[in-house]
Amino acid sequence: MNKTILVTGGLGYIGSHTVVELQENAYDVIVIDDLSNSSKEVAERITAITKKPVKLYISDIKHQHTLEAMFEHESIDGVIHFAAHKAVGESVQEPFKYYANNIGGMTTLLKVMHQHNVNTIVFSSSCTVYGDTNRSPINETHPVAEAISPYGTTKIICEQILKDLCKHSGFRGIVLRYFNPVGAHPSAQIGELPLGVPNNLVPYITQTAAGIREKLTVFGNDYNTPDGTNIRDYIHVVDLAKAHVKAMNYALTMNQSYDVFNLGTGNGRSVLEVIKAFEKASGTDLPYIIGDRRVGDVEQIWADASKAENKLKWHCQYGLDDMMKTAWKWQLVLGSGSKSS
Ligand code: UFG
Repeated sequence: MNKTILVTGGLGYIGSHTVVELQENAYDVIVIDDLSNSSKEVAERITAITKKPVKLYISDIKHQHTLEAMFEHESIDGVIHFAAHKAVGESVQEPFKYYANNIGGMTTLLKVMHQHNVNTIVFSSSCTVYGDTNRSPINETHPVAEAISPYGTTKIICEQILKDLCKHSGFRGIVLRYFNPVGAHPSAQIGELPLGVPNNLVPYITQTAAGIREKLTVFGNDYNTPDGTNIRDYIHVVDLAKAHVKAMNYALTMNQSYDVFNLGTGNGRSVLEVIKAFEKASGTDLPYIIGDRRVGDVEQIWADASKAENKLKWHCQYGLDDMMKTAWKWQLVLGSGSKSS
């Protein structure tokens, strides 16, 4: 019999791609999503890819009673927890929103899991927990640093809470630290749906190429990197989603109670390299200017992902060109009308 996985935030960007991969790898999936940064239509689009219906609960995970009723009613073997706010800048403006949603939501979820003897969880974290470091490639033994933003604080605290529960309360937890997820499903049925003006590089690029934004501003070209622009480890969202399936396989059978994995390609790419790759993939010229540095940007960071490759038997299949091609294909589906501010 298939195992059943609850995916919180399963209609979001990474969540929806993970639901597809789970369904395509013999897992039954239940999604809980409050639609705060997604839409119900995503469930239909997942089904268009997998030909399997998505069992959907529309609720905030902070609603303990709804969670309890769901855990009573369903037979859940493990949880992949995505549901969280993720805008770094917004978290500086509205820190309490981030503490309440990201930390409050996760503790409610863990409490209800514990009450129902569901103890296996894969948690969506970020390389932001390494803070402002220039030591790359960076591996999981690198110490967690002081957070750069309230968003980062929530990821560090949630990792710590999970570690406690794995140590003392019988949980089996896996933390996945993402580098920079980009791209979209090759079917162009699902992808990122940025609300308002995108903060992240790739949606900003695709919206600019689609004529929604006038031009891209490159945030600084005076960094100590080969072309002066920041370096990041961009990873295709489908590769990232596949890593969640591997992580869940591993979590359900592992001997130890807690483990942490970086998820990146292991390749650092500059902002200008990304722009060039996009221009090539889309056949467009991207209007851009060089602007000031963005406050809080780390100069360069990329992953040592060898632990995930070795222990989870996971390897990235997509390169930067595929990331740009699929991001552009998805933008063409969204069209030029997705400007919401
Ligand atoms: N950038 C631009 N112009 C833009 C947007 C971004 O030049 O309009 C540059 C940034 O300065 C940075 C790079 O593109 O050098 C990537 O920026 P993103 O905003 O796409 O991604 P970040 O690396 O800043 O942030 C990502 C995740 C966060 C996470 C952080 C951890 O989005 O959730 O990595 O380092 F916290």
